[in-house]
Amino acid sequence: MSNANFDLHVVARMTNRLIVGLFGAFLLAGMYIHFSFHFLTVFFLMLSVMNVFYLRVQKKHAILRNFGVLGQVRYMLEGVGPELRQYLFSSDTEERPFNRVERSEVYRKAKGVDSAMSFGSALNYDATEIKIRHSMYPTAAEDLEPFRITVGEERGLASAYTLTRPVMISAMSYGSLGAPAIRALGRGARMAGIPMNTGEGGHPKHHLMTGADLIFQMGTAKFGVRDEHGLLDDDKLRDLAALPEVKMVEIKCSQGAKPGKGGLLPREKITREISELRGVPMGQDVVSPPSHAECASPASTVEFIQRVQEVSGVPVGIKFCVGDPEEVRVLLEEMNHQRIYPDYMSIDGGEGGTGAAPKPYLDGFGMPLLPALCKVQRLLAELGVRDKLKVFAAGKLINAAKWVHGLALGADAIYTARGFMLALGCIQSLQCGNNTCPVGITTHDPDLQHGLDIEDKAERVKNYVEGVTHDFDELMRSLGVRSTRELSPAHLYVPPASILAPEIGA
Ligand SMILES: Cc1cc2nc3c(=O)[nH]c(=O)nc-3n(C[C@H](O)[C@H](O)[C@H](O)COP(=O)(O)O)c2cc1C
Repeated sequence: MSNANFDLHVVARMTNRLIVGLFGAFLLAGMYIHFSFHFLTVFFLMLSVMNVFYLRVQKKHAILRNFGVLGQVRYMLEGVGPELRQYLFSSDTEERPFNRVERSEVYRKAKGVDSAMSFGSALNYDATEIKIRHSMYPTAAEDLEPFRITVGEERGLASAYTLTRPVMISAMSYGSLGAPAIRALGRGARMAGIPMNTGEGGHPKHHLMTGADLIFQMGTAKFGVRDEHGLLDDDKLRDLAALPEVKMVEIKCSQGAKPGKGGLLPREKITREISELRGVPMGQDVVSPPSHAECASPASTVEFIQRVQEVSGVPVGIKFCVGDPEEVRVLLEEMNHQRIYPDYMSIDGGEGGTGAAPKPYLDGFGMPLLPALCKVQRLLAELGVRDKLKVFAAGKLINAAKWVHGLALGADAIYTARGFMLALGCIQSLQCGNNTCPVGITTHDPDLQHGLDIEDKAERVKNYVEGVTHDFDELMRSLGVRSTRELSPAHLYVPPASILAPEIGA
């Protein structure tokens, strides 16, 4: 903490002596000049006592032991460092996981504000970013086909579910999100005509109050549908899937933010209601198993998919993050062998978000979405499985250009979680696991939830969907295509330095 010109240790020693000196001076001033000086006497007395404690008593913090109250300033600055960097020092394209340019675009869409910008792109235009290849012959507005895909049509299901927009709200459990956030998302989803995934939080009590179409997610702990041994309870699943709002069931095999690890809900966020809905004790972290006990091999995984399809009677998908593509190949071969296919596969990129995950998993595991999509797409085509199911994709696909990237690389529809959190007003304070979310989204603290107005935020969710869909249609026209079925990797310009380049042979 010192250099040749400025020795902080000397400054700290002088400051500490000054504090004691000022205490003495104000004590005398209070006694002989005016009583009101004693307010300062008390203040400097407290500082002196703190100093003695920091310098002589506590042993945990070397900085406080050496520098006293001046050292405390360092901890205060460290505490507000993220906010200072976010508001004062970071450039518009610096922050992670989403920079200010990306976040602002979502905020503007959610508020229904025009997002046209002036002067030029703020991005590093000639680096590694993927660009979209436009056509010299754009599509006329009246020639653009409305988006429409039907999940479950491959099995001829009466309960097949049709999506009329390319985007859905990705899994976020009640637990990771608070009730007002769920209500706002659900109402917004209903208004925008898109489905909402329940996440792995058990019985979707709050989701059901919104009237939104739901994709019920079954996590590895099977909250809401498990028997006393933690295995699937067919009757519970049958009852849940019979609810008119539940349109599909998703078996979560893994998640991009923590593949190979089960869901984690920190104890700070377990309220009495959550403990009842999930059937878990209060006061301790809830850690789900890393995989479904029923899915110990490719064969048993496919058998489990079939069982969930038969019991639920609705389209059933599996969600996973790609690790070793060979494992995906073997699973697809097993599907061909048993002639059983899920109705969709949802590919989650390693860059995906989470309410809480251990840092090594967050930073170091899971294939990023776009290369993963390419690999899965290639395997599906190679093994003749592509026309047996739909493919969904998630991983920072929060604006229309990113939707094009995902759909061009083989997805049929887009999932996003954090796009919708931003639409709700998330400021990326990165406190989702602490129950201290300053904008009331990922918290169960009623004081913080107070800031989230359900009606207003539902409107924003609807605006976001409509705004990005409008942009997406514009991009489709500029690409010169009439339907998403025509999109292919050839519509992307992938610079050689991009992570995607080796996958598509650019
Ligand atoms: C707060 C939060 C909670 C999440 N909860 C779940 C969950 O319960 N189940 C799940 O499969 N994924 C969960 N996810 C992951 C998302 O569904 C999604 O797959 C991932 O964030 C990638 O999408 P995004 O980049 O658009 O956020 C959660 C993500 C966030 C940010």
